[in-house]
Amino acid sequence: MKKRVGVAILGLGVVGGGTYRTLVDHREFYLKTQNVDIVVESVLDKNTARLKELGVPQECIAGSIAEVVANPAIDIVIETIGGVGVAKEFVMMALKEGKTVVTANKEMISKCSHELERIAKRNCCGLYYEASCVGGVPIIRTLLDGVQANHITEMMGIVNGTTNYILTKMGQDGADYQTALKEAQALGYAEFDPTNDVEGFDSTYKLSILSSMAFHTKVPYTKVHREGITSVSAMDIAIGKEFGYVLKLLAIGKNSEKGIEVRVHPTFIPASHPLASVNDAYNAVYLRGDALDDIMLYGKGAGAFPTASAVVSDVIYAATHSEIKYSTFKNNATADSDVKFVSDFDSAYYIRLSVEDKAGTLAKVSNVFGKCGVSIVEIAQKSKAEGETRVPLIIITHKTHEQAIKNATAKINASEVGCVEAVIRVEA
Ligand code: HSE
Repeated sequence: MKKRVGVAILGLGVVGGGTYRTLVDHREFYLKTQNVDIVVESVLDKNTARLKELGVPQECIAGSIAEVVANPAIDIVIETIGGVGVAKEFVMMALKEGKTVVTANKEMISKCSHELERIAKRNCCGLYYEASCVGGVPIIRTLLDGVQANHITEMMGIVNGTTNYILTKMGQDGADYQTALKEAQALGYAEFDPTNDVEGFDSTYKLSILSSMAFHTKVPYTKVHREGITSVSAMDIAIGKEFGYVLKLLAIGKNSEKGIEVRVHPTFIPASHPLASVNDAYNAVYLRGDALDDIMLYGKGAGAFPTASAVVSDVIYAATHSEIKYSTFKNNATADSDVKFVSDFDSAYYIRLSVEDKAGTLAKVSNVFGKCGVSIVEIAQKSKAEGETRVPLIIITHKTHEQAIKNATAKINASEVGCVEAVIRVEA
């Protein structure tokens, strides 16, 4: 017998609209292939022009959230409002009424999944969020149902399309940050206020969700070391290219005997690394497991229909599984007390100094690095730019402690020899 499942959609923005159209347009297809009749019973959005544009019938337009959660024909509530305020309030109301929630909201899940899951468990309903991370790429289902045989030791992701677009443009066209950002805004990738993306918050929320799942322990977003791309220069991207590197904003999670390290920052990777060819607004997540070795998932991390694909996949999952799937780790507000987080990371570094072009400079610089315990792999002096008195000196280091680099760069800055213009981590 075919199962009938009623859904409501809260918020008809880009993702909500894509979800509405996907569910309506594919209703027959899901009936045929999944044996489930998914009916959009109700849509909540104040924007009447948008409701009209999407062709939502009058009888499906809800007047309030109270009306939605009181409707017994609704089994699943899809939240595509975003942010934590109203979205969280509405999700809590739905869960308290025993309605399974499907959400695309990374900030809410990263900050509040412990609270929301507790309410869901109490009311015997589900909380699913495939669409919260990496849009159409099924990374959450892969972590839960595809690679669970493994100890995942490493995860490296390009999980934000806006910043990947900006860095790609800076690398390919030599554009400066502001020009590339304006282009990303004109194309609708970057928002008018791009802070969330360019300062790495979006990637941080996603990394906290994904690393909690990959490492089976709560990784609060506050544990993620975060640096954005606003101070990246086209000059460093171009010089990095000469050394065989490509610059990406990476979300990195590592789980070793030293503990868990989670960080989001601009990173040079070798041009031969699979992530190096992930360009424009595309996303990818590279995973390393003890049995699996490595895999990479690649696709569109944003946009109406790629993200709707993930939302609807959760709706179908919830509609076709009687057993509810909750977190595979203890989902608390904070990490377990026995989990150690590493803050003095080991990494190789690209460092650009500007120095006087005179005898003894190289010896002084290498002396500072040597005294701080930093081993140099390569050192190269670039030509003097017109009107400059100093020259760029590029240093690539072996893997070293973060603190050793901080000591060395502070010493250089305090000395007469020159100053530090850029410090970028390098991952192999
Ligand atoms: N703003 C995000 C990005 C998409 O640029 O990838 C939604 O997470």
